Amino acid sequence: IQPPLDLFAAIQDLKRDLNAVILAHYYQEPDIQDIADYIGDSLGLSQQAASTEAEVIVFAGVHFMAETAKILNPQKQVLLPDLAAGCSLADSCPPAEFAAFKAEHPGHIVISYINCSAEIKALSDIICTSSNAVKLVQQIPPQQPIIFAPDRNLGRYVMEQTGRDLVLWQGSCMVHETFSERKLVGLKTLHPEAEILAHPECETAVLRHADFIGSTTALLNYSGRSDRQTFIVATEPGIIHQMQKQMPDRTFIPAPPLNNCPCNECPHMRLNTLEKLYWAMKNRAPEITLPEPTRLAALQPIQRMLAMSH
Ligand code: 13P
Ligand code: SF4
Repeated sequence: IQPPLDLFAAIQDLKRDLNAVILAHYYQEPDIQDIADYIGDSLGLSQQAASTEAEVIVFAGVHFMAETAKILNPQKQVLLPDLAAGCSLADSCPPAEFAAFKAEHPGHIVISYINCSAEIKALSDIICTSSNAVKLVQQIPPQQPIIFAPDRNLGRYVMEQTGRDLVLWQGSCMVHETFSERKLVGLKTLHPEAEILAHPECETAVLRHADFIGSTTALLNYSGRSDRQTFIVATEPGIIHQMQKQMPDRTFIPAPPLNNCPCNECPHMRLNTLEKLYWAMKNRAPEITLPEPTRLAALQPIQRMLAMSH
């Protein structure tokens, strides 16, 4: 069967019929961002998922995000347009290896970045996102040792900001590790007035050139209040759609990738399309499911994060 010609109208109709809400991350393609009810960073998306009254949550993002929505809403149906939309960072932390790593560090509490599987969340004490990681670590008594997983780049950034010594799991995001420091410096030379905005998943070599570091929402908000005309953006370029909408007269340049990488789009995020979103709502599949014991164990550290983020 062919999809309808006007996908926007068809999706709006389905949204009404299903009593659905569409939550989208900034790394989704522009059409998906434009039809979403809420666009946000991982913290904002999980807060929306925790408070929505809709019966069906259509999650335009990657698997761990939709899974978090399901952990918070076991009674609701959570749809993901493409179940294969994973995350290289989440994949870099397999549960069995992480359980062994945790056993090698008795007495440590585990703070895990939300970019991990439900199994890793279940092995964690507190979940964090890029917008609250520094604040949450600062709330832990100084004598309490901490394992930080899975992103070593965010972990190093948190260490630098808090002065704490964290035991880091050595995971990373394939997208944020593709930026070239050499090319970034070259681009800055061509645009000396530009501000460099970077996500803390980037490597230290890139972060040290940044004028502002933050989560996707923080980067968007910063670009809205800066008086500069030009910005170099070191994160997935999907965010530029919102930056450009917010500030149409400004110039946003994606930070350049290494020579062998054609672009910095996240191959996982970009698996979702408007057409797949339509079919997911029409077929009410693919749906996120997870075993109840895992869900319950993963819920606690997420609830701790939400309580500590107020
Ligand atoms: P935030 O939107 O929370 O900054 O996360 C970025 C990211 O990599 C999501 O996969
Ligand atoms: Fe995962 Fe990186 Fe893609 Fe975010 S941008 S979903 S961290 S691979």
